[in-house]
Amino acid sequence: MDNLALYRKYRPQSFSEIIGQEHIIQTLKNALSSNNASHAYIFSGPRGSGKTTTARLLAKALNCRNRKEGESEPCNKCSSCLEVKDGRSLDLIEIDAASHRGIDEVRELKEGIRFSPNKEKYKVFVIDECHMLTKEAVNALLKTLEEPPSHAVFILATTEIHKMAPTIISRCQRFDFRRLEFQEILKRLEHISKKEGAKIEKPALELIALHSEGAVRDAESLLDQVLTFSGKADITKDSIKEMLGLADTAWASEFSWFLSKRDIKGAFEFLEQSLEKGYDPMELSKTLVSYLRHVLILSINPEVVSGFSKEEKETMKNQAEILGYGGLQKALGLFMDAENRMKYSSIPQLPLELAIVDFLKENQ
Ligand SMILES: Nc1ncnc2c1ncn2[C@@H]1O[C@H](COP(=O)(O)OP(=O)(O)O)[C@@H](O)[C@H]1O
Ligand SMILES: [Mg+2]
Ligand SMILES: [Zn+2]
Repeated sequence: MDNLALYRKYRPQSFSEIIGQEHIIQTLKNALSSNNASHAYIFSGPRGSGKTTTARLLAKALNCRNRKEGESEPCNKCSSCLEVKDGRSLDLIEIDAASHRGIDEVRELKEGIRFSPNKEKYKVFVIDECHMLTKEAVNALLKTLEEPPSHAVFILATTEIHKMAPTIISRCQRFDFRRLEFQEILKRLEHISKKEGAKIEKPALELIALHSEGAVRDAESLLDQVLTFSGKADITKDSIKEMLGLADTAWASEFSWFLSKRDIKGAFEFLEQSLEKGYDPMELSKTLVSYLRHVLILSINPEVVSGFSKEEKETMKNQAEILGYGGLQKALGLFMDAENRMKYSSIPQLPLELAIVDFLKENQ
């Protein structure tokens, strides 16, 4: 295996490879094939859902030299496509607003907009995390969006659309990317591990898919770590748990029983044992929060929960009944806080321990 990160190696190179986001892809393809692309787009949605990938695809398709009328996919062979693919196109300008917030970048953006494309038809500006743009940059952008030069296409991407100025949003065509579903991510992981020739059992992939919480990139990065660690060895669910210090549904379920039974001593002992076994406290709280969230969702609408066996769902239902909406809400709040506080705690498990006490103190 070469050392290019999996998520880059398998970044979709045509629209047909994008999973989920069907309506977005269809709309973009229609716009391309009818030569009707907009001058400004805004892509919102969680990280790892395909915003940057789609932005680059759109840029590639717009400037593809072989794409004929009525077609939407880039050819991936012409010089323009290859330059985009290799990240050396002069007519695709990517600006990360999170790390470039200075005056110089704003000026660069302003001047860049005025100049025509270097070689191709369009100059495409992708502005990532655009909610972080400075006021000055937003104003410059706004002016441009009011009267965009015919050669310019803006694609703004953000994980936090609520922080965007409404004046900007209203001038863009907006697409909301969704979190991917468990089955969609699982399928993608199966596809990649097959291509990589990896020997990895399905429960192992399921654990990774569940852990990624709907972000394809996270799933691919986890798979990457696992493949790098294990080399050619057979990969099982257990070996992954050990390798990454990941807890699984069984762990979270067992822990949740202590919460359900209001057994503070048991909860502490169980936590202690888990840490001794090498589980990472951060991973533990993440797994617990994710599990409790699924318990809550399951108690509201069982149809929408996937990634759990029938027996697991049965247990989750029981726990939901014992804990109740109020209990689940409280536990989720407390353990989510614990996860955040852990970043600043000199004793990593302390926030977890405090959350346990907070949750159970009243009935002791
Ligand atoms: N919808 C998707 N379909 C296929 N792969 C995806 C999708 N979303 C993300 N990926 C994978 O995750 C990687 C990162 O995605 P990216 O487009 O950079 O996410 P975002 O910009 O939304 O954070 C891509 O290279 C690709 O491998
Ligand atoms: Mg991105
Ligand atoms: Zn091309």
